[in-house]
Amino acid sequence: MKFLKFPENFTWGVATASYQIEGAWNEDGKGESIWDRASHTPGKIKNGDTGDIACDHYHRYEEDIQLMKELGIQAYRFSISWPRIFPTGKGKVNQKGVSFYDKVINSLLENEIEPVITLFHWDLPAALQDIGGWENKEVVNTYVEYASYLFNHFGDRVKMWITFNEPMVFTIGFYSEGFFGETSVRSGVLAARNVNIAHARAVNAYRNSLHADGKIGITLDLFPVYPMTTSSLDKTATQIIDGVFNRLFLDPVLKGEYPSDILRIFTGILSLPPIPEQDLKLLRENLIDFLGMNHYRPLRVHADSPKSLTDINSLLVNDRIEGHTYSEMGWEVYPDGLYDLLSRIDKDYDHPLIYITENGMACKDDVIIDGIVQDNDRIDYLKHYLEAAHRAINKGVKLKGYFVWTLMDNFEWLHGFSKRFGLIRVDFTTLERTWKKSAYWYRDLIKKNGFYHDSDEP
Ligand code: BGC
Repeated sequence: MKFLKFPENFTWGVATASYQIEGAWNEDGKGESIWDRASHTPGKIKNGDTGDIACDHYHRYEEDIQLMKELGIQAYRFSISWPRIFPTGKGKVNQKGVSFYDKVINSLLENEIEPVITLFHWDLPAALQDIGGWENKEVVNTYVEYASYLFNHFGDRVKMWITFNEPMVFTIGFYSEGFFGETSVRSGVLAARNVNIAHARAVNAYRNSLHADGKIGITLDLFPVYPMTTSSLDKTATQIIDGVFNRLFLDPVLKGEYPSDILRIFTGILSLPPIPEQDLKLLRENLIDFLGMNHYRPLRVHADSPKSLTDINSLLVNDRIEGHTYSEMGWEVYPDGLYDLLSRIDKDYDHPLIYITENGMACKDDVIIDGIVQDNDRIDYLKHYLEAAHRAINKGVKLKGYFVWTLMDNFEWLHGFSKRFGLIRVDFTTLERTWKKSAYWYRDLIKKNGFYHDSDEP
């Protein structure tokens, strides 16, 4: 057995998101979000689940912060619900919403847990979707006002900020899955471009805010991409998928530019207007302090014919590959992929500071012995992914922290409560919280700043 020790000031944390845990969907003046609307639309969410109550964190935040304290959590990444602060996205501040987050932040600090705020984790005020959502430049202006308010109000106590969670998912992803009605990749790409502008303007607003002595970054969902064969077609397909999923979002925030190969493809297929020079200038002048990286799985790619290269979705291999392991989400478990990804970003983007802002696994979690959920698969997953992270650090990658997704079982978007990712189990009838075996394991790891890895093999 080998002990893997992490660097002295490495940060250990957990992550959550407002809509997934808070509940209190219409309390204390909160406005409707697009997820309230989606979950109240019959047929949209598995089993008709909603985030109306979720983990009831809005009323139980003190208990949840105590859980974090007992776990030894050093930093807590959570998101602010925009419609709690501005019920219709803009206008008059809802003081009760602000006061909720004041209480959360103050309690975290009293318990020596660093608050890390995500400004936007998908719960857009529904009123802003009504005017076109991220496709509308007006929403960009509104976001910058919202962001500035948060920086000025909470910035005295919060020193780590994340502008967006996974822009790929809520732009190109949501639009091409028809989440907003009509399926449109074109709208998704236009929305993504606007989000990149909103991001750059928020970074700028932070640097000009009252308490600009912290760090600001963005969280992207990133993937190592592997071809299924050594054919030149699969090689090209891999470059395209890497471009759309990774470089399209990495290049703007770390280099201040767009990947020209992907831009060419999109401009050709979707007939999009070129990116204005002033937008590029804005991106270049507002690069991030750190990269937040959410990572769960690799992507495998195969192209049937040269023609299929223009049908991006068809290039992704969705079938399970024999001999490979998959989680409850159907996602491939491939820890070496994290090592490849970290090494590649380090090399291609001039050694940025990186935080893994999400990593974790959905398991069945149905074996409970002596009141403890026996989530051995989750522990195994975390161990192997952390071993890969450790290897990357040893190689010189500037990985500064790691946040498990997630503190407790919660509302897993379209899957409702059917998928469990938490270190803590939540009974969604009684709302009781129970420690899983992985919670004890993570507590131990934090205490020792490392863990025993069973084998020397990756
Ligand atoms: C999201 C989380 C989500 C997790 C697991 C990430 O893409 O940021 O909100 O729960 O994946 O699906």
